[in-house]
Amino acid sequence: MLKATLLAFTLLAATALSATAAQPAADPLAPAGHWTGATAGRAATPPMGWNSWNAFRTDVDEAKVMGTAKVLVDSGLRDLGYIYVNIDDGWWLKRRTSDGRMQVRTAIFPSAKVGGSETSSFRPFTDKLHSMGLKAGIYTDIGGNACSQAYDLHSPNLPEGTIAERQIGLHGHVQQDIKLYFADWGFDYIKVDACGINVYGADRPFVKQHKYNAYPPLIDQASINRTNIPAVRALYQQVADALAASNPDGDYVYSICAWGAANVRAWGKDVGNLWRTSGDITPQWSRMLHTFDSASTRALYAGPGHWNDPDMLFVGHGDFDVHHLTEARTHFSLWAMIDAPLIIGYDLRNAPQALMDIWSNKDIVRLNQDSGGHQAVMAYDSDDVQIFVKTLSDSGTKAVLLLNRGSGPAEITLTPAQLKMVGDVALTDLWSKKTMMLTGGERTFTLQPRESRVFEAKGKRQLADGMYLSEIPGAINIARDGVIVPLPDPIVHRMSNPWGATTNSGERPSYGGWGGARADATPYDQALTVDGKVFASGIGILANSRMEVKAAGFRHFEAKVGVDDSTRNLKDKVVFQVFGDGHLLAQATAAYGQAAQTLSADLANVKTVELVARSEAPTSDLPLVVTWGDAALRE
Ligand code: GLA
Repeated sequence: MLKATLLAFTLLAATALSATAAQPAADPLAPAGHWTGATAGRAATPPMGWNSWNAFRTDVDEAKVMGTAKVLVDSGLRDLGYIYVNIDDGWWLKRRTSDGRMQVRTAIFPSAKVGGSETSSFRPFTDKLHSMGLKAGIYTDIGGNACSQAYDLHSPNLPEGTIAERQIGLHGHVQQDIKLYFADWGFDYIKVDACGINVYGADRPFVKQHKYNAYPPLIDQASINRTNIPAVRALYQQVADALAASNPDGDYVYSICAWGAANVRAWGKDVGNLWRTSGDITPQWSRMLHTFDSASTRALYAGPGHWNDPDMLFVGHGDFDVHHLTEARTHFSLWAMIDAPLIIGYDLRNAPQALMDIWSNKDIVRLNQDSGGHQAVMAYDSDDVQIFVKTLSDSGTKAVLLLNRGSGPAEITLTPAQLKMVGDVALTDLWSKKTMMLTGGERTFTLQPRESRVFEAKGKRQLADGMYLSEIPGAINIARDGVIVPLPDPIVHRMSNPWGATTNSGERPSYGGWGGARADATPYDQALTVDGKVFASGIGILANSRMEVKAAGFRHFEAKVGVDDSTRNLKDKVVFQVFGDGHLLAQATAAYGQAAQTLSADLANVKTVELVARSEAPTSDLPLVVTWGDAALRE
């Protein structure tokens, strides 16, 4: 361990020396000295509410939205947290050419008819929602045109007029539109889609046929290499900046809807409050698994203020309708456990009580809204059954979900170790409210096809005086995950194409993020292992990474570090460093095949711990996998 004063002296000397030399490039792994995770917007817990798309597609109107809003209030759903009432695609009429101001389709939103035929305002609409104790959400596109203009060509509510009038997306109007939607109209939430920068290439027949302005695609959903990631990110950042400028009170939510493309699963957390991790959900079991998987391995990228978004709920429709309550409960529970936004997509004016009972299960909602923001981590994984464990912020309690993904009954055995507990554990089923004990080391449950069981678990923790870092992903910011070249993630369930036949070769992996940081697994989904020793707890990440951890009053950090046995780069050495508020506290160098070394550091008064793993003298770009085994904050 190095003394902070000695380090400060070394740093001073280094600064003095470098003053005379040419400015070196900034060290991307240098400790920040403080938490740099994004804090903009208002999403301390995952947003909850309703959105018109899964219920009505573009056939949305004011009566439907207000009818839904009334049910949210009258049923008590609002008081449970479902406060956002979000309009999706279909609200717009045209962009006024004289000054670029957007016009509402007042034929379907009559309250917006104010100030003559050429002006319209959503202010009466948002005022009404606000007066009901709700918040209002609007929808736009990052490009010039929207998804409906490409995919819903028979929609009754497509934008009208000249080419310019039908350019209803943000392209060229970011400041103007964001100011209009937030400062003038009073919206609180915005979903920004990406069709305008994806499907409006000049070669598309519908672009010619409908006379749209062509936009050379920045996103190729099937190819990360053919996607201009920095350009996509920069466009979404412009919107983030405009939102901050138009919302001095900071009360807004920014939803990035780039469907897992453009490597958004890695940078979404730094730009928005939620970001879609996959293509659209449909009301099919297999598709639900697909969008769920796209978020369920990404616990370390979510936390208070920023959430993985596997898309809106489809409870009430298709495989999740009132005749399939097992599937509906599972879908809802899965979203709750992984801290997904809980956005209802059903016509609530006609909702059967059995569905209302799902959205209003207070205990399941409570898991999702827990202030710790710790997305559930996989304790057991297979294509057939999975176990997810979520730490609740009282730190003694866990929620655990057992999932049968398959089409036959499955036996699932739960152990205290999977909960990072020892001895007897008290379980409360959060659907039936029945209590039971997990004694004698395990308990086996038989689950029907597509069934899940969700328990709250109380027991003696493995770490009586602390938390493993993999138990508290919401307290970690992956500042750099070491991924050099974004790769498609192959462990997302691939459904047969829900939009067409099986005439092409099938759904290929396409969401960037493979090789990203993982809790209790390596970046490539192996068990954390250093020189043959397996760690059930820990963080797996690539070298040339930096993590920030909120010390939260803990006084000690400890980990067993080393190059993971699964690394493809067997040659390069790794320097592991632990910083406390920017000061180096501990350091070790490790090579492949070397036993894990203990790193421990005193955290007196430290607010932010930073964990840096740096390849010492890189000779290769092959992924260098490192393990922070048993990494923990202790008393
Ligand atoms: C895209 C989005 C959906 C929805 C539609 C609207 O497909 O991913 O969530 O907003 O556009 O056209």
